[in-house]
Amino acid sequence: MEVVALDGVSFEVKRGEFVSIVGPSGSGKSTLLNLIGALDRPTSGKVFINGQDIFLLDDTRLSDVRNHLIGFIFQSYNLVNRMSVQENVEFPAVFSERPSSFSSDSHTRALKLLEMLGIKDKTKQKPADLSGGEQQRVAIARALINDPALVLADEPTGNLDSKTGREVFELLKMLSDSFGTTIVMVTHNLELAGMTDRSLYISDGRIEKEIMHKTTSEKEVRFATTDDANKDITSQEKSGQKI
Ligand SMILES: Nc1ncnc2c1ncn2[C@@H]1O[C@H](COP(=O)(O)OP(=O)(O)OP(=O)(O)O)[C@@H](O)[C@H]1O
Ligand SMILES: [Mg+2]
Repeated sequence: MEVVALDGVSFEVKRGEFVSIVGPSGSGKSTLLNLIGALDRPTSGKVFINGQDIFLLDDTRLSDVRNHLIGFIFQSYNLVNRMSVQENVEFPAVFSERPSSFSSDSHTRALKLLEMLGIKDKTKQKPADLSGGEQQRVAIARALINDPALVLADEPTGNLDSKTGREVFELLKMLSDSFGTTIVMVTHNLELAGMTDRSLYISDGRIEKEIMHKTTSEKEVRFATTDDANKDITSQEKSGQKI
């Protein structure tokens, strides 16, 4: 059977932008995120990151893009329970081609991230011993270990109570506001979506509407010191996927 999960979806995300994707269950939100993050391959359509059509890359280079340019955060955290919190955070650095792999660099960076996210005291624990909110913070730290240009989050607050979910969202917001991290977040929470820069409403595999919450110029003013705040980072054209 052929299922067209996305059809004619086309949009751009600017460097430093925080975009939310909302829409009913089964509308194609996860499919869209997985395509942007090259976890899935589109049957037709293209994804550009930093001007590079990522599906023209060979598998090695594509994994490199996934590992270096993109950080993923999932609803169910996807942490490895037989590893400690710190090992989970450092794990993506293992695949890094940089000479610093497995080095004290990634060690130090993991600790810094855990500290920034307020869970440095959990470093030696196993993820299963942590609360949902703490596990999601570990997942955020893991997503950031290779200093990605783009963070993709699929319902990162979906398994959390509203207070904890809000706290996790505030962390993502802080990454966007303070560090200029580009974030695309799928959420069912319209209140949180309203606090991002822009929401894309997906329905039946199409973009139904787009709502700007913050004008790009406000964002540009805030990032006026960065050299290329206005440069496109991601654009996706005509992504149809047959499953
Ligand atoms: N592996 C698959 N095989 C067949 N159909 C699939 C597969 N994955 C997704 N689909 C279908 O593609 C469509 C979009 O699914 P997707 O998971 O992207 O939705 P979603 O918007 O993320 O939903 P939710 O809010 O429930 O997570 C749905 O009709 C779904 O049934
Ligand atoms: Mg989904």
